[in-house]
Amino acid sequence: MYPGPPILHTLPYIDMNRRQFVYRSTLAACGLNLRPPLFTLVAQGSPLVDGRRLNANLEQMGGYGRTAMGGIERIAFSPANLEAREFVKELMRTAQLEVTVDAVGNIIGRREGRDEDAPPLMLGSHIDSVPQGGNYDGPVGTMSAIEVAYTLADGDILLRHPLEVAVFINEEGGKTGSRAMSGELNPEDLDLPTRSGHTIGEGIAILGGDPSALNSVKRGPGSIAAYLELHVEQGRALEKEGVDIGVVEGIVGIKRWRVTIDGFANHAGTTPMNDRRDALLAAAGFIQIVNRTVSAVEGRQVGTVGQLEVSPGAPNVIPGQVTLSLEIRDLDMEKIDRLFQTIEVESQEVASATRTTFRSEQFYVSHSAPTAESIRQTIAEVATDLGYSNLRMPSGAGHDAQSIALLAPIGMIFIPSVGGISHSPQEYSRPEDIVNGANVLLNTLLALDKNPR
Ligand code: GLV
Ligand code: MN
Ligand code: MN
Repeated sequence: MYPGPPILHTLPYIDMNRRQFVYRSTLAACGLNLRPPLFTLVAQGSPLVDGRRLNANLEQMGGYGRTAMGGIERIAFSPANLEAREFVKELMRTAQLEVTVDAVGNIIGRREGRDEDAPPLMLGSHIDSVPQGGNYDGPVGTMSAIEVAYTLADGDILLRHPLEVAVFINEEGGKTGSRAMSGELNPEDLDLPTRSGHTIGEGIAILGGDPSALNSVKRGPGSIAAYLELHVEQGRALEKEGVDIGVVEGIVGIKRWRVTIDGFANHAGTTPMNDRRDALLAAAGFIQIVNRTVSAVEGRQVGTVGQLEVSPGAPNVIPGQVTLSLEIRDLDMEKIDRLFQTIEVESQEVASATRTTFRSEQFYVSHSAPTAESIRQTIAEVATDLGYSNLRMPSGAGHDAQSIALLAPIGMIFIPSVGGISHSPQEYSRPEDIVNGANVLLNTLLALDKNPR
C-alpha cells in the first residue's frame, strides 16, 4: 500500500460571528517523533465549503457501481450509472438547484443570478467511469460543484450570473455530453458502440434523452460566461512536488483510429510457420512501431494501443483478422498527425513481412484546448490567498472542459492523485485535498462572478 507523503494537512473550521476563518494545521511526521502542530491563519472572510458534507456525498456516490475489487464500474448507460444520476439529481435539488436533463442526457442544475441577462457561469464534470475505474475521476469535480451550490444556498449568496452545474454524459466513452453542447457530436456518432453494450444513441434514449433532438443541446460561443472544472490530476506531478493545487494550462488533443489488419485464418497445426498470414503477429509488430515512434521524439506525447480483438480467436486457428485501437495525444494536433503518418509508413514493412494488409479509420478527435490565462491567474491567486501551494501544469487526460472551450473561456483546477494512479480501482485522492480543491473552485467562481475578466 502506498504510504502517503509525510505531511498531513487538516482544515478545522471555526465559525465566529458568521465570519469564517480557516486554520491550517501542518503536522510534520518524522518517524515516530511528531512535531507539535503549527497553526497558521490562511484566509479571512473567504467562504468555505463544508468539507465533511462534500466527502460524505462523494463516499455515497462510491456506493453506485462498487466492485468486489474495491473499485468502481459505472460505465455510461449502465444500471449503476443510471442510479448514480438519480442520486446526483436529488443532491442538486437539496442544494437548491433547479434540475433539468437536456436531450443528450446531461444533467443541469441551475441557480438564478441577480442579472437576468447575464450568461451563466458553469461548473461541470462527469460521474461515469471507465471499466474497473475509481470514484474520483469525475465525481470529485461533480460533488465539489454541487457542494459549491450548497455553500451558496447556505450563505444566501446571490451571484450576479446564473450558476449552472453540468454533469456531462459518457465522458469516458468520448465526451458525448460536452461534445453535444459544443456542437461537435455528429449524428453518425450515435451509432458508435459503447462499453455498456448499447450504441451511444441507444444509451441517450435509456437516459431519457432524445437522440433526434441533439441540436437543442448545442450552445453558441459566448452563451457561457466561463467554465470551471475541478478534477483529480491523474498523474504524479503535484504529489512529487508536494503541491496542493494544479493550475491547468491546457488539455491535450486526442485522436483515435480503428486499425483493421487482415491476414488469413488457417489451421494452426498444419500450416507451416513460413506459410502463414498471421494478423496477430502483424498487430504485435504494429504495437512495437507505435511505442518506438512515439518515444523517438522529444516531448510529452503519448501513444497507446488499448483494445484488441482477435478473430476468430481460438487456440488452434491462426488469427485471420485483428481490429485494434490506436490513440495518440499531444498538445500539438499537427504533431499527432505527423506521428500517425510515420506509424502508417512503418507498418507497411510489417504488412509485407507478414503478408497482411492494414486499414485505418479515424473515429474520434478531441482538439487540444488551452485554458484562459486570466482564469489561470484567478485560480492561482485564489489558491495562494487560501494558503494552498500551486503549480502550473498541462493535462494529459481529456476533459469535458476541452469541448466547452469552444464556447467559453475555461479554467481547470487539479488536486493530487495519490501515487499518480487513475483509471484504476486504486485511484485515490485524500479528503483534505478534495476540500482544498472545492474551496478553490468556490472562490474562483466568486472572483469570476465579480470580474469575468
Ligand atoms: C479521460 O479520462 C481520458 O483522458 O481518456
Ligand atoms: Mn475525468
Ligand atoms: Mn477518465
